[in-house]
Amino acid sequence: MAKEDVSVRHAVLGDIGTIFLWRNLQEIVQLSKSQRTVTWEEHSDWFGSALKNSQHSIYIIAYQGKSVGLCRFERNMKFCELTIYLIPGEYHKGIGTKAINVCMQNESPNCSSFRAKVRRDNYRSRRFFEKNGFSLLERNNEIFIYEKITW
Ligand SMILES: CC(C)(COP(=O)(O)OP(=O)(O)OC[C@H]1O[C@@H](n2cnc3c(N)ncnc32)[C@H](O)[C@@H]1OP(=O)(O)O)[C@@H](O)C(=O)NCCC(=O)NCCS
Repeated sequence: MAKEDVSVRHAVLGDIGTIFLWRNLQEIVQLSKSQRTVTWEEHSDWFGSALKNSQHSIYIIAYQGKSVGLCRFERNMKFCELTIYLIPGEYHKGIGTKAINVCMQNESPNCSSFRAKVRRDNYRSRRFFEKNGFSLLERNNEIFIYEKITW
């Protein structure tokens, strides 16, 4: 895969419908905290306020010009929590690795450390974070928390 095949950009209001469809895909629902679908009203409230929130960054990931996933960051006083997903069919092509590194580089002036919460049984994702330099910080029966300190 050529590096230029993967690009990221900040999400805009016009992405609301695409992200709604992605959020309610069965594969993404299963990985979410609540493990349930969201209504359009819940989604539009959340998306509208996330876009306005200066502590929140949402990126759209594109592969060969097609939007294929999302990477987002929520900053708090201590760290930035990150979430990343690709749509089914786009896994294991190196897209996630390229996207997460570009997004983290973009966010790094405001984030000295990044954390990601992964469900215990999500082996693909746990492997993904380990391969990208994250270390296991905490774990319980359900969730593994990975951390990467950048500065
Ligand atoms: C996690 C995710 C973003 C990784 O992105 P990706 O583009 O598939 O990952 P990459 O192709 O860059 O692969 C990086 C490493 O991840 C692991 N990995 C990725 N896909 C895998 C698969 N299907 N099976 C096993 N390991 C896999 C491998 O260790 C891989 O390294 P390798 O290619 O040297 O074996 C993507 O698989 C995804 O969207 N998964 C569903 C959503 C999710 O679980 N998000 C994380 C919660 S925050």
